[in-house]
Amino acid sequence: MPSKIFQPISFIFLIFILLAPTGHAKRSTPSDKKTSSLDFFKKLKGCHKGNTTKEIHKLKAYLEQFGYLKYQNKTHATDDDFDDILESALKTYQENYHIKPSGIVDDATISKMITPRCGVPDIVNGTNYMQPRGKKHKSSRSSNIHTVSHYSFFPGRPKWPSTKTHLTYRFLSNVPTYAINPVASAFQKWGSSTHFTFARVQTNQNADLEIGFFRGDHGDGFPFEGNTIAHAFAPPVGKFHYDEDDRWSVGAVAGALHLETVALHEIGHLLGLDHSLEEAAIMYSMIGTGQIKNLHADDIAGIRALYNR
Ligand SMILES: *[C@@H]1O[C@H](CO)[C@@H](O)[C@H](O)[C@H]1NC(C)=O
Ligand SMILES: *[C@@H]1O[C@H](CO)[C@@H](O)[C@H](O)[C@H]1NC(C)=O
Ligand SMILES: *[C@@H]1O[C@H](CO)[C@@H](O)[C@H](O)[C@H]1NC(C)=O
Ligand SMILES: [Zn+2]
Ligand SMILES: [Zn+2]
Repeated sequence: MPSKIFQPISFIFLIFILLAPTGHAKRSTPSDKKTSSLDFFKKLKGCHKGNTTKEIHKLKAYLEQFGYLKYQNKTHATDDDFDDILESALKTYQENYHIKPSGIVDDATISKMITPRCGVPDIVNGTNYMQPRGKKHKSSRSSNIHTVSHYSFFPGRPKWPSTKTHLTYRFLSNVPTYAINPVASAFQKWGSSTHFTFARVQTNQNADLEIGFFRGDHGDGFPFEGNTIAHAFAPPVGKFHYDEDDRWSVGAVAGALHLETVALHEIGHLLGLDHSLEEAAIMYSMIGTGQIKNLHADDIAGIRALYNR
């Protein structure tokens, strides 16, 4: 019986897998340190306007990181006073993420705030790029199906020139080899769904786009901290960074982030898309560990609208 032979072999193989070093998931310590930097949320549970709980300044810093507030008076940015500005910022965050805008740090809010997310802010210079744009976006009515687009663009709608449809990309020398194929596959998916074509060039060559792994404050103004896992810049900057302190995986692995899914999201930024309100869209700002997503009609519609294709 083949199965009788197969069983001991697979058992030995399983033992081997369990004993083997876990490769992509070996950086457990920095990742835990990063997650524990979000522990303050537990102490803030139930907080609302008027509270002066010790960690409120961390909530202010968190909301400032994603563009929800900016204090003119630095004293208020670092104190623990749950003031009107903080309440209004928190309500905007709750609206963006479809949570009842109570202004209270409730469980639903905390659960969103600790979910891994892209570091690109939701609000830039006071403009909330996650609010539905109503008539500015095309909605189509056909055979009783009413669809509304939720994609958005960066301020000023930066994009690649219309003649530049072929983009080259390179991996910086610190990119682990296991990340190469997932990123290449993500470029291929964008290529087959849009008018863009992509080609990889060698690490030491010039390229339109570059992919790197960085940790903490790495000098581009967007330090990796808290729940941020990756980010990318609008055209024509062409930089896409993963946080090397997170746990990354090639397949769906519980507790790890899916390299290709995150690459699909960040390439969307490289092409000019900002975050989408549509949870199923690749351009939604958050991603769960172990979660795999693909390009969505909302993402493709966004690129078509931006480039008039
Ligand atoms: C917030 O303030 C209320 C009083 O307004 C108090 O009862 C509550 O314990 C405070 N919450 C926290 C988390 O400090
Ligand atoms: C900032 O706020 C503090 C506390 O309310 C106040 O004493 C200070 O004068 C303010 N500073 C400025 C520059 O407005
Ligand atoms: C935001 O505003 C500042 C100053 O008003 C400006 O220099 C900056 O370019 C703006 N950023 C974006 C992304 O529009
Ligand atoms: Zn993003
Ligand atoms: Zn960066």
